[in-house]
Amino acid sequence: MCGIVGYVGSQDSLGVLLGGLKRQEYRGYDSAGVAVLSNEGELVMAKKAGKLQMLMDNLTAHPLASGHTGIGHTRWATHGAPIDVNAHPHLADDGRLALIHNGIVENFYEIKAELTARGHEFVSETDTEVAAVLLADNYAETGDLRTAFARTVNRLEGAFTLLAMHANEPHLIVAARHNSPLVIGFGDGENFLGSDVAAFVEFTHRAAAVGQNQIVAITPDSVSVTTFAGEPVVPEEFDIEWDASASEKGGWPSFMAKEISENPDAVANTIRGRIHDGMVVVPEIDAFGPDFLSGVSRIILLACGTASYAGLVGSYAIEKWAGIPVDVQLSHEFRYRDPVITPSTLVISISQSGETMDTLMAVRYASERGAKTISICNTQGATIPRESDAVVYTHAGPEVAVASTKAFVAQITALYLIGLHIARVRDTVPEALLQHSAQELSDLPAKLAEVLSVGDEIRTLAKWMSDSQAVLFLGRNVGFPIALEGALKLKELAYIHAEGFAAGELKHGPIALIDHGQPVFVIVPSPRNSAEMHSKVISNIQEIRARGARVIAIAEAGDAAVLPFADEVIRIPLAGPLFEPILAVVPLQIFAMELADAKGLDVDQPRNLAKSVTVE
Ligand code: M6R
Repeated sequence: MCGIVGYVGSQDSLGVLLGGLKRQEYRGYDSAGVAVLSNEGELVMAKKAGKLQMLMDNLTAHPLASGHTGIGHTRWATHGAPIDVNAHPHLADDGRLALIHNGIVENFYEIKAELTARGHEFVSETDTEVAAVLLADNYAETGDLRTAFARTVNRLEGAFTLLAMHANEPHLIVAARHNSPLVIGFGDGENFLGSDVAAFVEFTHRAAAVGQNQIVAITPDSVSVTTFAGEPVVPEEFDIEWDASASEKGGWPSFMAKEISENPDAVANTIRGRIHDGMVVVPEIDAFGPDFLSGVSRIILLACGTASYAGLVGSYAIEKWAGIPVDVQLSHEFRYRDPVITPSTLVISISQSGETMDTLMAVRYASERGAKTISICNTQGATIPRESDAVVYTHAGPEVAVASTKAFVAQITALYLIGLHIARVRDTVPEALLQHSAQELSDLPAKLAEVLSVGDEIRTLAKWMSDSQAVLFLGRNVGFPIALEGALKLKELAYIHAEGFAAGELKHGPIALIDHGQPVFVIVPSPRNSAEMHSKVISNIQEIRARGARVIAIAEAGDAAVLPFADEVIRIPLAGPLFEPILAVVPLQIFAMELADAKGLDVDQPRNLAKSVTVE
């Protein structure tokens, strides 16, 4: 939520800012704005509610004076409606100071009352303007932006990334991070700030994540980092693994289409370097030695949304292979149930962005109570991996479309790698099974490439179903989380009411929803892997068919038993029981995208959603 970019250097800052905001559009926003310190020493600003393009059109009609220092922002509304006046930047000190903010200032009301009593006036409804005016107030007393900024951030509570600049100090941007992401990009004679590295990857691959409660000051030739208390900090640099082209569409009609096509690579890259001599070894966990895992008696998987469904799939595999009880908990529910956590609890968080506030808070909670923590994350340098004992990065590449696709399959892959790693270290399953499972993982990219060829078939289906009012999804065992994910994708992308059910639950209530013509997707388990589960799901299909449902079965190649009962059959390649769901989800991703497209919707940026949910 909210994208932030800051630039100081010799380039025309407006181009850098707009490019940085464009590449961070996926984070989700409803207004955008920029402020630039002009070469004449004036602070100039433009901001607009709506898409970034509206701001850009406005800038074409009313160009800003050029300058080499600037800040830019995309806002996802929290305090105050998404209208021009509430968009960032917010100005203070008679228009000589500009400030942008991601997060929520929780004590803004009290500060606003104090500032109002001292004669300050406000033009917006936002908590951010309060921070801008407080900074101006502190600046009036200190006459030094760094000092005033440090004093300001120490007064604020809640979650915030702030960037600010003042016309009196034209080559300086100050920034702070508290419970909200901020990264630095190191250039040559120029420096950058961003919510994530997409903000500046076009210009530099050298980056560092700003730590919790740290302040950064950038000038063209220097970057200094301190704690909120003023202690100097040496930022830990890392190289950005991908280039700007990886976050561009590359000829695809949407980021979502591109990212679905990258499913095979996402799995291949996540496995890379983690299978040795036919056995899974995850070096990032291995580095902690055998003691890290030996005492573990319970595993909790923490995540939200799609990542939690990846967790559900992973829970079946980890429990089976590692022989350790595994729970999956929604991060935002976790803390409030007073969970039992001991030093023998291993918490594995799953987050594409690594910035989901609910998950971050849940990980902190578990960690403070002595749990060991592993983060599965797709974003280098993000907060959750930084605050976890170990990190297993998924190497799915940047996921720009708001709805998650390739990151989901990469997350399941990472969970499987961890499950097989633990099983090997704790010697819980025969070596032959470990080797066979590692081979199944290695075979997945080719099978996923095969599944992608069902695209045309699904497109026709999606067009035919574009008027549907509701779509149901059924699955059993590892097929159940896939049903949940299929339903979530359809809700997010096509705004259609969709529900996923465990097939066995049908007769306990949901079957009442079945009426003539009701479309139901059914994920059919392979009869080779489990004849019993297969025949139970076939019975479920018959039960809904008898009540008028229109059945679309996702079944493995050669499964003839579904043919008499399904209106449509989408085939997936043969795979082991735990590996089928990774294949079965892809047709559902394509279906949701095609249906949204048939309805003329924006598949990359669905309404109301943010890619990175950085507030609780
Ligand atoms: O970045 P995270 O993986 O932590 O995000 C978790 C969820 O917000 C995310 O998966 C969300 O459900 C997506 N919109 C799914 O498409």
